[in-house]
Amino acid sequence: MERLQKVIANSGYTSRRKAEELIIKGKVSVNGQIVNELGTKVSEKDIIVVEGVTINKAIRKVYYLLNKPSGYICSVSDDKNRKVVTELIDTSERIYPVGRLDYDTTGLLLLTNDGDFANILMHPSNEVEKTYLAIVEGILSPDELYALKAGVVIDGVKVIPKKIKLKSKDVEKNKQKVLITIVEGRNHIVKKIFESIGHPVNKLHRLKYAFLDVKGLQSGDYRCLTVSEVNKLKALKKGIN
Ligand code: URA
Repeated sequence: MERLQKVIANSGYTSRRKAEELIIKGKVSVNGQIVNELGTKVSEKDIIVVEGVTINKAIRKVYYLLNKPSGYICSVSDDKNRKVVTELIDTSERIYPVGRLDYDTTGLLLLTNDGDFANILMHPSNEVEKTYLAIVEGILSPDELYALKAGVVIDGVKVIPKKIKLKSKDVEKNKQKVLITIVEGRNHIVKKIFESIGHPVNKLHRLKYAFLDVKGLQSGDYRCLTVSEVNKLKALKKGIN
């Protein structure tokens, strides 16, 4: 059972404060009876009509794009008391991350309370592209780059990057920046890819997720996705999955 004004607000019909006003004004009925007491609790089965409109009790869907800082885990809670990414977003909705970035990985992370949306983006058959900037140990040789482009086998499954580009190298520090775009979403996949060719990742940052990027967002900052971005992401669903 939930408070009537909360259920109305969660439906996206109006804010909780406005919902309270409407209740007091006698504009809300529950199962055909006008209810003008704020404490009223309702259940899933109750039919709520506000100003003549039957409200959809489905939760208000929210979508955030976060520039994840290092030192946060992609979870809603942690038994080891580490910081979790949901702490960075000021919302009363029960949001969760779409997929994972490691504790030390930074960059673009989506969070939502829309399970269908999250499933579309995480389903392997939808092949959503993710682009990472990796700083790896050592300088990649032409043969290693060729091997990467041809695909490496990680935990028994071949991964062929969609794109791979060598960026600047620091010969003195023996490190190289590499841009890599993949569709796989398995845990630690980028680190495993570079590990498999003998170049462990020192730093990893996700620059892009599908057509989205983190430009203009400082580390730890976030914004809401626009309706058109949400619709474009939902349209990445291919066939039945
Ligand atoms: N691949 C990794 O290895 N780590 C991440 O955080 C994301 C992709």
